[in-house]
Amino acid sequence: MSHSPGLKLKDLGVLQKTLAPITSADLFKPDDCLCKPKSSIQVNRFLSREARIRAPSSLKASVAALGIDVISFSTGRPSPETYPFEQLDLTFSDPAFLTSSSSRNGDDYPASGPLRSIVYRNDPDSSIDISIALSYGYSLGCEQLLQFLTTHITHVLCPPYSDWEICLTVGNTSALEIALRNFANEGDCMLVEEYSYSGMLEAARALNLNLVPIAMDSDGLCSRDLEAVLSSWESCHPDKPKPRLLYTIPTGHNPTGITQPPGRRREVLAVADKHDLLIIEDDPYYYLHFSQAGTRSAATLLPSYLSLSTAGRVIRLDTTSKILAPGLRLGWLTAPKAVVETFQAAHDLGIVHPSGLSQVVVYKLLSEAWGHDGFVEWLAHLADEYGRKARLMLQAMRQALGHRGLEDICSWKDIEAGMFIWLTIDCSSYPGLDHTVESMAAKASIEEHIYTAALEAGVLCCRGSFFCVPSLSVSAEAPDRGDGDRDGDGAVPLAPSKPIVYLRLTFASVSDTDLVRGIERLATALREVFGLT
Ligand SMILES: Cc1ncc(COP(=O)(O)O)c(C=O)c1O
Repeated sequence: MSHSPGLKLKDLGVLQKTLAPITSADLFKPDDCLCKPKSSIQVNRFLSREARIRAPSSLKASVAALGIDVISFSTGRPSPETYPFEQLDLTFSDPAFLTSSSSRNGDDYPASGPLRSIVYRNDPDSSIDISIALSYGYSLGCEQLLQFLTTHITHVLCPPYSDWEICLTVGNTSALEIALRNFANEGDCMLVEEYSYSGMLEAARALNLNLVPIAMDSDGLCSRDLEAVLSSWESCHPDKPKPRLLYTIPTGHNPTGITQPPGRRREVLAVADKHDLLIIEDDPYYYLHFSQAGTRSAATLLPSYLSLSTAGRVIRLDTTSKILAPGLRLGWLTAPKAVVETFQAAHDLGIVHPSGLSQVVVYKLLSEAWGHDGFVEWLAHLADEYGRKARLMLQAMRQALGHRGLEDICSWKDIEAGMFIWLTIDCSSYPGLDHTVESMAAKASIEEHIYTAALEAGVLCCRGSFFCVPSLSVSAEAPDRGDGDRDGDGAVPLAPSKPIVYLRLTFASVSDTDLVRGIERLATALREVFGLT
């Protein structure tokens, strides 16, 4: 995390105009990066049956034989002359104009000359034009964007080993699903935070994986519980294979909003090293860390697991969804070369590569219009705006949910990144609460009541139960995992044994006025549900 705008970063290497060149991040890494030791993780040990069986595309391999003065009768690639696109005329926002949110009012927003970019059908002066961008491309992604991302990752994340590669993806949801197919077999167990992203839960369920919830506290994933689960695995789950995969959302966690501090990340990694785990680091909110705001620099970003693991046991997933636009369906993953090759093989049989249109637009935006400094500046502005909205929502919550009886029922933690606030609702005083009813059923019915009352009051919240990972059944002789002070450092457990219902509140796309009104409506609904009127 050494990048600051003063450095004026430049990409290394001059690119030729070539159709779908076979490329590698190694071509664009500085020498000091290539001098680092290689990753030491034994990727073979983690491969699923599907990843072992999958063969690389023979057709794609044969195209590599195409050289200068070779006439190709080989591929089913249409001629670019037949593409009905004359030119793409793009106008981008300029981070330099984003001094405050009030300057970004739709059409009034000024677009300056340099941020207009035209992609021509055939452009001898550019390494990418329509004829290249909209043809079949290389399965890891277009070389121009890979070059930009290599420089970005080298300077912002600094992987501590040399043989990392990048693969463009169609976003983290797709990359995650492929990761599960590549590194887990049906019936395998995967370690996850006790509350987790619903897209991951659904993907894992569809692949028939067993999820193993790891306790969370105010610092997120508990390293102590992770260690307890793994070291007692054989006695607790004698019939199940020991987990090899850990999925985590370290920054602005979805749904709880928690950001793991650097110390916790190091502790989790130490457990992963001890038990030889492969970590899937799903980090869409990494750049939405509020401390970045105003610094115009990536220097304050937290250490990614990718940056900490010298063994290379991390598959880091990044996406443009929260930092540019979700409809681009474009992201990238960074991992040791042997891991990336498994994604490349999966892409050959599935998505082939992300949309050429998205790739060229993002390349023109990041590399040509903004450059590295502009990108970092944009991210800092975005973090600033998210921080402002988070503070506004938290203040509205303090005002509406912090008194008149609701202060004994509602609680939440401030967040330092992302877009989620996790509202904890203590239902001990719920009228007519039947403590004899199975607690899950009782919680589900109270959650339903709160959710419906909120909707009737005019505010849609997300049910916490959507994100809950049910416990795996444990053998009768299993040792107790304990509870309470989970990591022994005073951190508060996230799921105490009271009747608790959670709501996930997202402020990202709500206007300032509606943020305040929405929280007031929620307060009205909760007062009604708990008979506080
Ligand atoms: C943790 C997590 N992973 C992945 C995604 C989806 O990312 P993408 O749009 O890149 O598929 C989300 C979005 O809500 C998320 O919160």
